[in-house]
Amino acid sequence: MSRAPTLTRFLIEQQREQNTLPAELRLLIETVARACKTIGHAVSKGALGEVLGSLGQENVQGEVQKKLDVIANELLLDANEWGGHLAAMASEEMETIHLIPNRYPKGEYLLLFDPIDGSSNIDVGLSVGTIFSVLKAPPEAAGREVTEADFLQAGATQVAAGYALYGPQTLLMLTMGAGVYEFTLDREVGAWRMTDGPIQIPQGTREFAINMSNRRQWTPHVERYIDERVSGAQGPLGTDYNMRWTGSMVADIHRILKRGGVFLYPADARKPGKARLRLMYEANPMAFLMEQAGGAGTDGTTRLLDLSPQALHQRVGVMLGDRAEVAAATQAQAAMAQS
Ligand code: AHG
Ligand code: MN
Ligand code: MN
Repeated sequence: MSRAPTLTRFLIEQQREQNTLPAELRLLIETVARACKTIGHAVSKGALGEVLGSLGQENVQGEVQKKLDVIANELLLDANEWGGHLAAMASEEMETIHLIPNRYPKGEYLLLFDPIDGSSNIDVGLSVGTIFSVLKAPPEAAGREVTEADFLQAGATQVAAGYALYGPQTLLMLTMGAGVYEFTLDREVGAWRMTDGPIQIPQGTREFAINMSNRRQWTPHVERYIDERVSGAQGPLGTDYNMRWTGSMVADIHRILKRGGVFLYPADARKPGKARLRLMYEANPMAFLMEQAGGAGTDGTTRLLDLSPQALHQRVGVMLGDRAEVAAATQAQAAMAQS
């Protein structure tokens, strides 16, 4: 049986040794982790749990909601409402923020999440995940209800971020600004156990992840960046590259954190400057994790964590992973901006 420390022990030791982890933040992380355990359980039931399929309604993004999008959203809201650690929550599945009801005590943290990332994979039995980001309510919000504007903080201010991956194993990846740690769900005892960390992304892995079907929409320089890699040993880089795309950012980012490579969802001609992924609960938490693991993250020109969000559901171009690959892809975008 694994002797790896549990998430609870890891957090308590962090709190004791590093003296950097407030008790409320520890409670928040344990609560999110517990909710992810429940979401993972629902995901794994599949057709037996009647959790597959769509609801026939759209979320604020104009995307058809899957049953599991809504189930996971409710589980995260219910788990985090009553603990006293939060001021409010925000989610991909809710148009505006969710304030903690007055019957419960309130805390100073703001929690943002993508309850199910990779929803198109749910009904076909492939990996999906949950992404979360933790901010502090700004000091000026003390003594009043927080507002949506209080959430619009640069990613660099995140105090914690992570994701759960519901795949062959159920995993939790976590950063609180001092490295990235991996926890595996030990189903027999119901505990998360630390199985890797601090994680460093392997540099120099020749593997990229991009949705190739958008090629005609890319900027010419993203096209050239990918062409150089697709042409492999016969091309200007003189070396072969591999390609993987799961359609679930959590799964792609997890592979890259563990094995190296680069993930690209650039802004393209369909929505110039905006792209597909959302800044506050997809790009920012992943960029925080990536940087903490020695990788990098940009929107094509600027470090993701430096961007000033303008809206809760703002979309952004994403380049994440291996430092050299992110720099090369970013230079390709920047060169186009100047030409
Ligand atoms: P979500 O399921 O939360 O809407 O996110 C899906 C995202 C991300 O997980 C993935 O990388 C990307 O959308 C897939 O996009 P394509 O449909 O273009 O492959
Ligand atoms: Mn998503
Ligand atoms: Mn989602």
